[in-house]
Amino acid sequence: MEPVVRGVVAVLYGGPSVERDVSLVSGRGVAEALRGLGYDAREVDVREARLPDLPEGTEAAFLALHGTYGEDGGIQADLERLGLQYTGSGPEASRLAMDKQESAHRFASAGLAVPQTIVATHGERIGAIPFPPPWIVKPRTQGSSYGMTRVEEAGRLGKALETAWVFEADALIQPFLRGREVTAGVVGEQWLPLVELKPAAGFYDTKAKYADPRTTYVVGPDLPSAGAVVAAARVAFGVLGCRDVGRVDAIVTPEGTPVILEVNTLPGMTPTSLLPKAAAEAGLPYARLCERLLALALSRRGR
Ligand SMILES: Nc1ncnc2c1ncn2[C@@H]1O[C@H](COP(=O)(O)OP(=O)(O)O)[C@@H](O)[C@H]1O
Ligand SMILES: [Mg+2]
Repeated sequence: MEPVVRGVVAVLYGGPSVERDVSLVSGRGVAEALRGLGYDAREVDVREARLPDLPEGTEAAFLALHGTYGEDGGIQADLERLGLQYTGSGPEASRLAMDKQESAHRFASAGLAVPQTIVATHGERIGAIPFPPPWIVKPRTQGSSYGMTRVEEAGRLGKALETAWVFEADALIQPFLRGREVTAGVVGEQWLPLVELKPAAGFYDTKAKYADPRTTYVVGPDLPSAGAVVAAARVAFGVLGCRDVGRVDAIVTPEGTPVILEVNTLPGMTPTSLLPKAAAEAGLPYARLCERLLALALSRRGR
């Protein structure tokens, strides 16, 4: 097969966000996989919220970043200014997807179910919450479940808000939805088999995501509403203007309605992350997945 690029591929990883450590693993995995296919892939650590110097001869950037200055449109805008092709969504779609409040408005306008949400801004009065606990309290624009708490009773709300406000001034309060949690990945135009997440306890918090061996994942779960979930995920991804790659997180209610939690525009790309798992199941092994994302980015060259 012809290589999709002959020059240097800068694999941008690390980043200043709280998800830095995951990103380092993603970046190393991607760079090694691309080198295995014969590409001149070089890891480039993004240590602060600005574009680092790129290696001489860089022809494309592979974004293995998450969160702030990674997934929020900032680095995408800087790469646009350089005129360099990069993997994943553009600046505006990235910014929208990071913002769980603004993206939920778009999902709802497109007819999708979203969690009821109250925005609690630090320093401002919070009115009565029109739904009973348990609640989920989370920062408006973080990832990897950072700053999130499940609140069992109203008396515990203050502490949960403080936990979220460590990250930013806006916290979201939502009913804790019961149902089956799934994520739908996309590569190019191809929607991958769903992955169902089964945390051993509580919810899919940071520990359940990265440190709890009891969390299990089912690729292609037996779910009667799987088709409806993918259809909703497709709408969610499209309404934000996302492209190339993503993962849409949803909770399927006992009635079979997918409630959209968020769209991830740069999903985890460690060799065992959810999107690579689903892609492998669909016949796209990890290295080929990385190459495919590169090919999608380079297909924009000259346009
Ligand atoms: N309203 C909710 N009801 C039930 N669980 C939720 C809700 N919101 C989030 N969660 C749980 O928290 C996890 C992380 O939330 P999510 O909105 O996807 O943010 P992140 O960007 O941190 O992944 C979800 O995977 C899910 O397990
Ligand atoms: Mg999520």
